[in-house]
Amino acid sequence: MAETPKNIGGVALVGSGSAIPSQKVTNDELGMRVDTNDLWIKSRTGIGARRVIGPNETLSDLSHLAGEAALQMAGWSPESVDLILLATSTPDDLFGSAPKVQAKLGACNAVAFDLTAACSGFLFALVTAAQFLRGGSMRRALVIGADQLSRWVDWDDRRTCVLFGDGAGAVAIEATSTEEDALIDFKLKSDGARGDCLNLPQLGEFLPLITGTTHQRGGFSPVQMNGQEVYKFAVREVPAILGELLSANKIDPEKLNWLLLHQANQRILDAVAQRFSIPQDKVLSNLADYGNTSAATIPLMLDEAVKDGRVQSGHLIATSGFGAGLSWGAALLRWRGPI
Ligand code: UT7
Repeated sequence: MAETPKNIGGVALVGSGSAIPSQKVTNDELGMRVDTNDLWIKSRTGIGARRVIGPNETLSDLSHLAGEAALQMAGWSPESVDLILLATSTPDDLFGSAPKVQAKLGACNAVAFDLTAACSGFLFALVTAAQFLRGGSMRRALVIGADQLSRWVDWDDRRTCVLFGDGAGAVAIEATSTEEDALIDFKLKSDGARGDCLNLPQLGEFLPLITGTTHQRGGFSPVQMNGQEVYKFAVREVPAILGELLSANKIDPEKLNWLLLHQANQRILDAVAQRFSIPQDKVLSNLADYGNTSAATIPLMLDEAVKDGRVQSGHLIATSGFGAGLSWGAALLRWRGPI
C-alpha cells in the first residue's frame, strides 16, 4: 500500500476510464425514425452519432467497466478503494446503482452511493469525493459519471432525442499533500427557481388505493426541455462561473492546457471558448461520436484525451458542468495520472 502523505489536504487525479454501449445510432439512422437529418443535427449541435444501451448491457455494467479501467490506470487494487460515488440521474435501480458497481468491482471496503445532479453530476461528485479525501477520513475514491437517457427520451420527439446518448466515465482520485492538490478551485451552483426548462418528471398518475385514498403510480415522463432556455442559461452562466474562478485564482486563460466542458452542444463549447479567446485546438470535444451523455460527458472526454495523449501529466484543465436543476459548476484541475 502506498504511504499516506503527512499533510493531507489535497487530491490527485491518478486514473481514468470509460465505457460505451455497443449499439451506435447515426444521425442518418435517426432520420429514419423522426423528421430530422444529419445536416440539421450536425450544424445545430455538432453531434454525429450516439450510443444506446441494448438488452445485454446495463448502466451498472458500463459503470463497472469504466471504474475498472480507472483502477487499472491508477494501479489500485479494488480492495484499496474507500469510496465510490456514482453520479447518475438514470440508475438501474432507484434505490441506487453504486452498491451494484461496488460489488462488480470487488471493492469490498468502499462505501458506495449515488449522487444526482443531472449533467452537473460528475463535477458535483468529484468535488464531494474530494472533501472526504481532504478531510483525511478516506484515501482513495472512484468517481463515476454514467447515464442512460436513451431510456427516458421520447424517441419520437426530434427536439430532444437527437441530443442524448448513453455512456460512462470514471476518475480515480487519491488523497495527497496540500502542495500537490489537483483541485485548484471549484464553484458549484443551483437554481431550482429556473428548473422548469429541463425535467424528467414523475408521471403524476394517481390510482385508487382504498376507498377515499389514492396512491401515485411510479414512473416518469420522458425528458421535457425548452432547448432555447437551456442554451441561453449555458452560454450565460458557464462563462460567468469560469471567469470568476480564473480571476479568483489569477489564472490567465492562456495558461490553460484544456477547456473540458460538459458536452451538450458544440455551439455552447465554441461560445465559451470564444469568450476566453481559447483556441479550438484546446477545446476538448467528442460530441460528434457520443452526443450528450449527461453525467458521463466530462470523464468520458477526459479518458479519451488521456488515452490518446492529448492530456498529459501536469496539464491544467478548466472544466464546467451544467444542466437540469438548474445546476452548474466549474473547477480548475491539474491532471496527474499514474506514477
Ligand atoms: O445538458 C443540457 C441539455 N440540454 C441542452 O444542452 C440543450 C441546449 N439547447 C440546444 O442545444 C438547442 O436549443 C437545440 C439544439 C436543442 C435546438 O437548437 P435551436 O437552434 O435552438 O433550434 P430551435 O429549437 O430554435 O428550432 C429551430 C427549428 C424549428 O423549426 P421552425 O419552428 O423554425 O420551423 C424546429 O422545429 O428547427 C426545428 N427542429 C428540428 N429540425 C430538424 C428542432 N429539432 C429538429 C431536429 N431536426 N432534430
